[in-house]
Amino acid sequence: MALISEIDFGTPASRSQELVNLTIDGVAVSVPAGTSIMRAAMDQGTEIPKLCATDTLEPFGSCRLCLVEIEGRNGTPASCTTPVAEGMKVKTQTERLKALRKGVMELYISDHPLDCLTCAANGNCELQTQAGKVGLRDVRYGYKGDNHLESTKDESNPYFTYDPSKCIVCNRCVRACEEVQGTFALTIEARGFASRVSPGQHETFFDSECVSCGACVQACPTATLSEKSIIEIGQPEHSAVTTCAYCGVGCSFKAEMRGEELVRMVPYKDGKANHGHSCVKGRFAYGYAMHKERILKPMIREKISDPWTEVSWDRAISFAAEKFKAIQAAHGKRSIGGITSSRCTNEETYLVQKLIRAGFGNNNVDTCARVCHSPTGYGLKAAFGTSAGTQDFDSVEDTDVMLVIGANPTDGHPVFASRMKKRLRQGAKLIVIDPRRIDMVRTPHIEASYHLPLRPGTNVAILTSMAHVIVTEGLVNETFVRERCDPSEFSDWAAFVSQPSHSPEEVEKISDVPADLIRKAARLYATGGNAAIYYGLGVTEHSQGTTTVLAIANLALATGNLGRPGVGVNPLRGQNNVQGACDMGSFPHELPGYRHISDNATRDVFSHIWGVELDHEPGLRIPNMLDSAVEGTFRGIYIQGEDILQSDPDTQHVARGLAAMDCVVVQDLFLNETANYAHVFLPGSTFLEKDGTFTNAERRIQRVRKVMSPKNGYGDWEITMLLAKAMGCAMDYQHPSEIMAEVARTTPSFAGVSYEKLDQLGSIQWPCNEAAAEGTPVMHIGGFSQGKGKFILTEYVPTDEKTGPRYPLLLTTGRILSQYNVGAQTRRTANSMWHEEDRLELHPNDAELRGVRDGDWVKLKSRAGETTLRALITDRVAPGIVYTTFHHPMTQANVVTTEFSDWATNCPEFKVTAVQVSTSNGPSDWQENYQKQAEESRRIAAVIVAAE
Ligand code: SF4
Ligand code: SF4
Ligand code: SF4
Ligand code: FES
Repeated sequence: MALISEIDFGTPASRSQELVNLTIDGVAVSVPAGTSIMRAAMDQGTEIPKLCATDTLEPFGSCRLCLVEIEGRNGTPASCTTPVAEGMKVKTQTERLKALRKGVMELYISDHPLDCLTCAANGNCELQTQAGKVGLRDVRYGYKGDNHLESTKDESNPYFTYDPSKCIVCNRCVRACEEVQGTFALTIEARGFASRVSPGQHETFFDSECVSCGACVQACPTATLSEKSIIEIGQPEHSAVTTCAYCGVGCSFKAEMRGEELVRMVPYKDGKANHGHSCVKGRFAYGYAMHKERILKPMIREKISDPWTEVSWDRAISFAAEKFKAIQAAHGKRSIGGITSSRCTNEETYLVQKLIRAGFGNNNVDTCARVCHSPTGYGLKAAFGTSAGTQDFDSVEDTDVMLVIGANPTDGHPVFASRMKKRLRQGAKLIVIDPRRIDMVRTPHIEASYHLPLRPGTNVAILTSMAHVIVTEGLVNETFVRERCDPSEFSDWAAFVSQPSHSPEEVEKISDVPADLIRKAARLYATGGNAAIYYGLGVTEHSQGTTTVLAIANLALATGNLGRPGVGVNPLRGQNNVQGACDMGSFPHELPGYRHISDNATRDVFSHIWGVELDHEPGLRIPNMLDSAVEGTFRGIYIQGEDILQSDPDTQHVARGLAAMDCVVVQDLFLNETANYAHVFLPGSTFLEKDGTFTNAERRIQRVRKVMSPKNGYGDWEITMLLAKAMGCAMDYQHPSEIMAEVARTTPSFAGVSYEKLDQLGSIQWPCNEAAAEGTPVMHIGGFSQGKGKFILTEYVPTDEKTGPRYPLLLTTGRILSQYNVGAQTRRTANSMWHEEDRLELHPNDAELRGVRDGDWVKLKSRAGETTLRALITDRVAPGIVYTTFHHPMTQANVVTTEFSDWATNCPEFKVTAVQVSTSNGPSDWQENYQKQAEESRRIAAVIVAAE
């Protein structure tokens, strides 16, 4: 592997179709109108010296290094800020230009430390490179004049350092923070010689609004802003392009290495999902992969109260297989099952479901999508015929109106949020439907046109009411409906939504959202141009999660906002491979490609290749597995890369289910909370240690590339193969590419996918088949896979979870930028500096009523359980609503969530729990018990008995 270097064209590409002809140094060039002279020169192979320009940012024209001469024009204009013109004749290299550039460079170097040999950027510094390019040999002014060489470093950020002595005030960092990230955390303060970069109002980076995305570090041409890992380890020597293992945005990174050591993760400019941007998690929070708490040796124990015994892989696998076989012999084939991981690769997920269907002989397979986006799969399939989002991320550039409902993109999907914010700064309009005032409602240079702060649990009422406005005010896109939808279904639906009970005035009484706001939002969505809906778990994790997805689909159908760039229905997927896990057949009723298990022809395809007859009955979902475990009929489970004790609702019920089983096999990086109930622990591998693919929220399949050998000895796919073989299920893949080849052979929407094509194209959005050989960025152009788009009635049914005198507040939950899911990875990195604990957001009125002050410990109690955490008093939440994150196991927010779930998919109702909040002196009984158990489990792990 060599170090991948990407060409910097100096300025962004122009999107114009019109071509302009000019000559540069006598060579004829033809480029799109709007291209800078600098970029046009690069296109024909001439690199004009530059410092303040880079192709990820708009040109700024401050350094004056890129000067050129243009025939017929006075002076020496900057080539980065001067666009090409028809017939222009440009000279990039003359004696005058050389002298001018040298002069500019002399000034920079006279105020720059001459410590190149010991500088962290040595060999990768643009100032150093450009000084060489302009032929600088001497600095006439000497180095003794006024300078900034004694400036103090800012080391406050855990991941990067700011050394002002090396700053050339090129403004690239400030522009990166504004244009790419959209946070506006940096300014250049003072003027002239005194000017310096400043985070916030003379704050440190850590104390400022900086969200540690790294865009400024990436943009800095000197060592002023440098990753601490580079300073510590040195410059990388080889790299590979891989995909972030955190969220569903699916950012591409270059994993830059020295030997087997990861030096840094650099966002890849050619990454189709991120275009060179990143967030703090993918960019910096990879330390968990090397964390000392990773378990690297397999362990077994007879009872969960026994100490763990460290054993060989052979012993652990045969121990698990024997137990599973014994359970099946005593209790029948369907007494065991498994859970696939949305964090593992497509190939690994495919193998787990294959092991369960072909090896265990049943369909008891489920995935954590059950607790997040299962209603998306169900709802979008019912409405459009395909269980996936309709657009690519690039589509946002053509969007005029964004409707964000039940999602918090700046925290949950930060890199895509930056793209949304950029489009909003260009003039697109924003509607936010969320009980909480999320950042996007008002953030620098962005303000939502309408924020509908609805009462949790009333999504369906609000969306149906918006449909009421659209239909009754004549805002339906009649042409689209006539051509693309079933007319009688539309009429039924139109009559339904037109009922007076769905009018904004009636819905105001249920949702607490003023009728006027509902009307205005509906009008803007229907008439504002290309309108796109982006949604998250605030839509799906409800007892009416599927109904809400259907209501969203209805709005898009009625307004014709489908089948072209800029529109669509876009679920923002939480985990990196939740889309892929669903695609690969992780649900108990579906084989890969969302084909029902009862379909004989589909089963035959797999039976033929796998050499076994498949059970035609759908298997158990996770909640049913746990219920059956408590009842004694489900007794063994293989869990790959999931911590269901933390991520699933009603923690105490999950614990009872797990404790009732005879064999729980957990495969993970760390001894997670679920492992407290495990009999076999199989150490997992990280995304850096294996090959495979992830599929992001826009159906984009991207490569995961192995850059170091697995510390545990095996990739997760190999571990599943070992277990499968021990269970008598033949699996003999030499490389994950062979697994993908099998997926392509068996699954029509993946028919054209191969590792060769992925290497060639960079990524592929499914469906990829004969009809779409390079994939499908935008779905449903010209037609739906099922023929017509379906309007489905969405009757609002209030959740059974009701507030009352005992539990008068409604709890809703969400994520924070620096942490990820149950925090197993991010809590093992410096990201915890930003979020040491989960806090309970409480409105000042509710706090005052209860005598709670900011930072006080409070008891959060529901009819399911209670926990304690500290209060954060804020008006981001409305009176009557409380909110918390669920990243820390000690908070155990899911102890208070209830057993209610989506009617269609069992997705738990995490977003609505009636609670009471009161002052507290300390942890709840559950937390104390949990703490004792967790400590005991860790103590046991620490004194692992070595195997004979
Ligand atoms: S790390 Fe990101 S948010 Fe922070 S200052 Fe740099 S660009 Fe801005
Ligand atoms: S910190 Fe780097 S990018 Fe920012 S102004 Fe200084 S040299 Fe330029
Ligand atoms: S936005 Fe998501 S995929 Fe991108 S770097 Fe952050 S966590 Fe990773
Ligand atoms: S690169 Fe053009 S002015 Fe700096």
